[in-house]
Amino acid sequence: MDEFERHGIGVVSGRDACAHALRSPGLTSDPGGGSPSVLLRDGEGHARVRGVLREIIADLEPLPAPVLAAIEVVVSGLGSSFDLVRDFARPVAGAVTSAVLGLPLDDVFLDHLEKTTANLDVFGGTDRAGQASAFRLAVQLSRAPAGPGGLTAMRAAHAAGRLDDDELMLNPVVLAHAAYENSLNFLACAGLELASSASPVRVRELVTSICPARYVLRFGADGPVAVSLTDGLPFGLGRHACPGSGVALAEGEIALTALAKVLDGGCEVGEVVWKTHPVFHGLAKAVVTRSGNR
Ligand code: HEM
Repeated sequence: MDEFERHGIGVVSGRDACAHALRSPGLTSDPGGGSPSVLLRDGEGHARVRGVLREIIADLEPLPAPVLAAIEVVVSGLGSSFDLVRDFARPVAGAVTSAVLGLPLDDVFLDHLEKTTANLDVFGGTDRAGQASAFRLAVQLSRAPAGPGGLTAMRAAHAAGRLDDDELMLNPVVLAHAAYENSLNFLACAGLELASSASPVRVRELVTSICPARYVLRFGADGPVAVSLTDGLPFGLGRHACPGSGVALAEGEIALTALAKVLDGGCEVGEVVWKTHPVFHGLAKAVVTRSGNR
């Protein structure tokens, strides 16, 4: 909260007030400056770009068999001791993001994708490393040969006049980041809960209680406001509500159910390190050791 105050950002909390704010025509996602990003605009341009992204995401509903298989491979490969972030959440979220874009993604790509968080955050503009990572990925994706999937679909939308040059340059990174960052944080936190309490896998409840994206930023007549999502709105609401929530829930269901089986015989949790970002809530590291392996 102090971080917001320090930057002159008001905070809206409480479910009703937040739902009202997210639906309000008087609060926009557009900070000014004409960003081509789907996240940072409203009106016709937003609806048009969002429509293209929504079609891409719909191709993953239900999750295709190769994506399910990739998730199973990640979980079945977990050793006697593993890091929930590095060995579980990251490769699972990476596999889904790879399917969203329609091209393989290596560790260097995922490293840069994690760094772009800073570029998209509420205090944007001050983190040079985050901006450099986002720019680098945008250039890389603009040159990448892509198979069937989001990147090819965005290029086709561009050729058909549905996206302009700038929208085609930036939104593949925005989509990749949206698909990756919140899922990464959710899967690791949910994995920690399963490891700590052996609770049943209830994905929708878990995503609501963990709420990996804690706030979204909006701009009104009185300046910027951070709208809290922690009171039951993990996927947001209104014009920008997460169009990937179905994919996120399906991904969580598959990955966490498989993880719960792996942890069935009991485990111990050590070395838990939390990220400190004011908006994106997640783990940096959490080492799990299966019982009988110490
Ligand atoms: C647990 C996982 C996820 C959570 C908690 C989450 C949460 C959110 C939230 C809160 C927003 C709204 C941002 C705003 O109002 O400014 C959002 C937007 C978005 N999400 Fe997700 N998301 C998740 C996974 C995904 C996945 C897997 C995809 C793609 C397959 C995706 C694609 C998007 C896109 C494209 C937007 C931008 C929509 C717009 O601005 O109109 N998300 N997400």
